[in-house]
Order: sequence, then C-alpha cells, then structure tokens
Amino acid sequence: MPRTVVVGVSGGIAAYKTAYLVSALKKQGYDVHVLMTKGALHFVSALTFETLSGNAVLTDTFDRKSEFNVEHVALAKKADMIVVAPATADLIAKAAAGLADDMLTTTLLAARCPVVFAPAMNEAMYHDPATQCNLEVLRRRGAYVMDTGEGYLACGDVGAGRMREPDEILEYMHAVWAELYDMHGVRVLVSAGPTREMIDPVRYISNRSSGKMGYAIAEAAVHAGADVTLVSGPVALPPVDKARMVSVVSAADMAREMTALAPEADIIVMAAAVADYTPKSYEPQKIKKGNGGMTLELVRTVDVLQELSKIKRENQLLMGFAAETQNFEENALTKLRSKNLDVIALNDVSREGEGFDADQNNIRLYFRDGRVQDLGSDDKTVLALRIIDEIKNAYRQLCAR
Ligand code: CTP
Repeated sequence: MPRTVVVGVSGGIAAYKTAYLVSALKKQGYDVHVLMTKGALHFVSALTFETLSGNAVLTDTFDRKSEFNVEHVALAKKADMIVVAPATADLIAKAAAGLADDMLTTTLLAARCPVVFAPAMNEAMYHDPATQCNLEVLRRRGAYVMDTGEGYLACGDVGAGRMREPDEILEYMHAVWAELYDMHGVRVLVSAGPTREMIDPVRYISNRSSGKMGYAIAEAAVHAGADVTLVSGPVALPPVDKARMVSVVSAADMAREMTALAPEADIIVMAAAVADYTPKSYEPQKIKKGNGGMTLELVRTVDVLQELSKIKRENQLLMGFAAETQNFEENALTKLRSKNLDVIALNDVSREGEGFDADQNNIRLYFRDGRVQDLGSDDKTVLALRIIDEIKNAYRQLCAR
C-alpha cells in the first residue's frame, strides 16, 4: 500500500482547494509532502500546507534550508504516488518537455511512481492544441491525467478547465491505487467495535472498543481494491464508503453474522472486541433496585474466532487480535496456536493513549510460520495500511503454496 504521497501545487487559484486534499490524505494515514511552485506561493502560503501535512514545504531545488538540497531526488524516490493539483498549463508543458527548474518539476522528472495530474486552467488554454498535446504526451508516458470539470472559472468564463473537486481527486487516486495494488477480487471480511450484552431493556455490559482499528483496516482494504464486508458492533463512526456494512449488537449476533459470511471470504480480520461473557438471562422488564447489593450471573459467549477456525477453508487467511496488558508475546502466541490463526496482531492496551478508544495503537504481527513483524506505535490509519500490506502478501503466499 502507498505510504508517502507527494502533492505538487502549481500556481492556479484552485490551489486553495488542495489544502483540503492534503488534509484528507493526512487523515487517511498517508505521509504527505507538499512541493509548491513559486507561482503557487502567490495563492496559498507554504505555512498552510506545512501545518496540514506536518512536513516542510519545498519550492526551490537550491534552497539551502532544505534537507533535500544535496540529494534533491530523495523525495522522488520515497514517493509512492505524486499528485499535481492544480496542474496549470505551464506546469503541464514543463512536465511534458521534461524541464526541471524547481523542486516540483525536478521531482516529477526523477520520480518512478505513479503520477496523477489534476489540470486547472482557463477553457481556451485547456483546449489549446499545445496543452492537449502535452497532456497526451504525459498520458502516453503512463501518467494519470484527470479530466476537468465544467463550470464557472476564476477568469469569469464558464466552461471546461475547472480542477476536479478534492474528493473527486481522492477517489481517482484510490482507483489508481486499487488498480496498482491489486486486491481486486479479494474478499475481505472485517469485524470491528465492541459487542453489547443486554441485561434488561436499559442496561448492558460492554467494553471500551471504539471500532477505529477495524474501521481503518476495512478502509485500507477498500483503498487497495478489495471487496470488503465490515461487521460492526455499536460504534460512533461513519460507515466505511464502498464497504458492505453489517450491524450487530451482541456476541451472539457477531457469531451468527461472521460464521454466515466467512465461507465467502478470502481474508478474515477479527478486530472486534467480542464480550467473553453475557448475562445468563435477559430480563424483559427493567430491573428495579432493591436495598441490598446485586449479583449478576454471567455465562461464556461463543468464541467467534475459534468457530471460524473450525470452518476455515483452504486458502483462507484468518487473522485475530490479542489485546494484552502483560505477558504479551506468550499470550499472543498461545492465541495464535489455540485459535489456529495465520496471523495475530498483538497490541499492548496498557499504554496511555494507545489501544482502546484511542487514535493511536501499537502492533506487532506474529505469523504462523514464526515470522514476527513489529509495526511499532502509530496512528491506527497508518497501522491499518501496513497491516493490509502484510496480510495481502501473506495471503498471496498462502495461495501460492
Ligand atoms: N474473540 C472472538 N470471540 C470472543 C472473544 C474474542 O472472536 N468471544 C476474538 C477477538 O476478536 C480477537 C481474539 O479473539 O481477535 C482475541 O481476543 P482477546 O479479547 O484478546 O482474547 P480472548 O480470546 O477473549 O482471551 P482473554 O480475554 O482471556 O485474553
């Protein structure tokens, strides 16, 4: 999966919209670096992009403050994708001619990753044969050139040449990634969030899971082109676009849905924090308080993963999570073996600000073949991209055997 995205901004009024694009990419977990042309600096300040991306904005190849001044192609090497938005007629002409007179054009020339251009200019300039010819040159060289929208242009004209909206650019980038990273046709089933075990109509037992890790994994799988189903306990998160959403409440619901959907899945990621115990009986009327204490009798729920491992078919990858507060490796490996998993993601939930109900997590993956991959502490969105990368490779190896 791509991690580093370089956003090139050239000098058009649409540059202000690119701020939203950078912010959205950052939220999706990508390491975003912005390169601006001198013209772009007239429209939006470098500080805007520096604040949104968390990285220094580079403009001039010979900027002595830049860490890239010696090896100015470093960013070109690091980039998994470059998106130029807005791409002005001038920038497009330079890119087509292979000119390299600033940081953006130099990076474009040195880059070997996919490049997306989102053109933005006046209609006459867009339709001019020179621009159309330059766009064709870029396309033939493998660049992804977006079309433009029709509408009101900053020069007062109405017509073609409007830069596509940031959301459309994002969608386009994801479509390119999906094509390149090729999880097409791979069916991924993810569970997320807590379960609620009802005591009476107004009370339940649950846990602190926010669902963020599972949702981030489902989203990363969608972006990689997979066909994703997300079975979710009650959470306060928006649905994952383009994933099939299935809502559940209790551990029993989760078990029913997951076992029904599992035969159709190639990869199953059990990220839900399923309750281990549920009240022995449900009181249909609200329980009234008495004067003394109260004892609630609980019984074990179904271990969903255990059930899934019993019906696991050939070439199906089963991944679980191990949320631990001590004896980390030992507990993770015991769960890997006892639940017959291909991979388990260990997370230390004792750390402040990480794990349950947090944006950050720490993950170490243990594979069936003994391999260990430490993904460290990071934002859940970033970890999700890496998890998808790892399990995609593990799934390919499984199928190749
Ligand atoms: N799990 C499950 N069904 C359950 C409980 C857990 O499918 N009833 C899954 C979780 O989704 C997770 C893995 O099992 O992928 C491990 O969950 P965890 O809560 O860490 O461990 P438990 O197996 O419940 O064991 P313990 O609570 O004793 O640590």
